Amino acid sequence: MKVAILGYGTVGSGVGEIITNGETADVKTLCLAHILERKENLHLHPLMCDDIQTILQDDSVEVVVETLGGIEPAHTFIIAALSAGKHVVSANKAVIAVYLKEFQECAQAHGVKFLYEASCGGGIPWLHGLANAKRIDEIEEIHGIFNGTSNYILDHMAKEHQPFDVILRKAQDLGYAERDPGADIDGIDIQNKLKISSALAFDCDIPETIPTFGIRNISKEDIEYAASQHQKIKLMAEAVRNNDHFYAIVEPQLIDEGNMEASINENLNLTCLYGATIGPLMFYGQGAGKLPTANAIVQDIIDIQNQCSSAVFTPKVKMTYDTALIQRSYIIRATLKEADMKAILGDDLKQCFAFKGKIYYQTAKISAYWMHDKMKDILTQDKEAFMMGLRGVNA
Ligand SMILES: NC(=O)c1ccc[n+]([C@@H]2O[C@H](COP(=O)([O-])OP(=O)(O)OC[C@H]3O[C@@H](n4cnc5c(N)ncnc54)[C@H](OP(=O)(O)O)[C@@H]3O)[C@@H](O)[C@H]2O)c1
Repeated sequence: MKVAILGYGTVGSGVGEIITNGETADVKTLCLAHILERKENLHLHPLMCDDIQTILQDDSVEVVVETLGGIEPAHTFIIAALSAGKHVVSANKAVIAVYLKEFQECAQAHGVKFLYEASCGGGIPWLHGLANAKRIDEIEEIHGIFNGTSNYILDHMAKEHQPFDVILRKAQDLGYAERDPGADIDGIDIQNKLKISSALAFDCDIPETIPTFGIRNISKEDIEYAASQHQKIKLMAEAVRNNDHFYAIVEPQLIDEGNMEASINENLNLTCLYGATIGPLMFYGQGAGKLPTANAIVQDIIDIQNQCSSAVFTPKVKMTYDTALIQRSYIIRATLKEADMKAILGDDLKQCFAFKGKIYYQTAKISAYWMHDKMKDILTQDKEAFMMGLRGVNA
C-alpha cells in the first residue's frame, strides 16, 4: 500500500522512519511514495515534493497522512485527498476538532476512511479503546490527563519546589513545551482532544464550547497547599453524559494522592472511560512524541490495509448541554477582599483561609459551568487568580 505524508516534521518523519525501517509483516506491506514539504526543504529527502497535485494525481497512492498541523492548508488538503478517493490518516487535533463531521461525510461519500487515532493521546490506543467499549456499553463518562506538557510542569513544580516559569523554561529546553506554550498551558490542546473524544464516545457532533481553565496562573503556594492536603493538582479533561444530556470541562483539579490520576508523573497521560458493563477502564502511556504518535498513525494505516473496524461513527444523538451534570466544590486563590468575593460568589462562598501568605476561598458544591463563568469576573479584579476543583473524596 503506497503512502504519502504531508509535513515531514516531528511526527511525519516518525511515520517515514517506521514505514521505511519496520520489520513486521504488516509494516513491510507499506511503501512511502511522496512527502509534501516546503520548497526550501526539498533537498532533505528524495521523495519530497512541494505541490499537493503530485500526490493527488498519483493513482497508486492509497493513503495520505496529514501531519502538517494547524487549520489551513491541512483542511483543504484533507478534503482534496478524500475527494480524490484516498484514505486519510491525521494527527492534527486542531483541524479535526473543527471539521471532523465534514471529513467523515466526505470520506463516506468517496468510499474511503478518515482515521485519527493519533490526534488524542498520541501513542495510546484511546480512540480504539473508546470505539471498542462503545460496541457494548453506552459510555457514561470520560476523563483524564490528556496533555503531557502540562502534566510535566505540574509534576516538576511539586518535585523541585520551583515556580511555574522556571519549570516551563525547563520543559521548553527539554522539547516538551513549544516556544509558544499557550495551547498546552491554557488547556486548548486538551479541549480539542476532549471535543474529539466526546463526539466518538457519545455518538454526537463535536461540542461547540467546552469551558476551559488552564494552569498559566498556578503558583508554588497552590502546589504546596495541595501537598498539605495530601493532594496533587492535575489539569483534567472531563465529559459526562446522561441519556441525551451532556457536559464537559477542562480545569485544574485537586486529586487525593491515593487516586490513580494523582500518580501520573512526568509527561505521561492517563485517559479513562466508564461504561455500564466494563466499569472504569484506563489507558496509560506516552500521549505525544515522534515515534509513539507515528506508531498510532501507522496502526491506522494497517487497519485500513486490513479493512478492520475502527473509530468511524455517524453522529446519531443530538446532545443538550446540561450544566447540572458536573458539580463540585472549588478552591480559588485571589487577592480580592472577602466582601468583593462575596459580591461575585454570593451564598456559594463557604470559607476564606490563608496559606503561606496567600488568600484562598472555598465554594459550596456548585456547577462547573457557573464557577468557570464567575472566574471570568474574578480575573477582571485579579488577573493572576487561580482556581481548582475538588475532585477528591473531600469534594
Ligand atoms: N509532536 C507530537 O508529539 C504530536 C503528538 C500528537 C499529535 N501531533 C499533531 O501532529 C501534527 C504535526 O505535529 P509535529 O509536532 O510533527 O509538527 P512539526 O514538527 O511542526 O511538523 C510539521 C511539518 O509540516 C511542515 N509544513 C507545515 N505547513 C506546511 C505547508 N503548507 N506545506 C509544506 N509543509 C508544511 C512544517 O514545516 P515548517 O516547520 O517549515 O513550518 C513541518 O516540517 C500537529 O497537528 C500536532 O498537533 C503532534
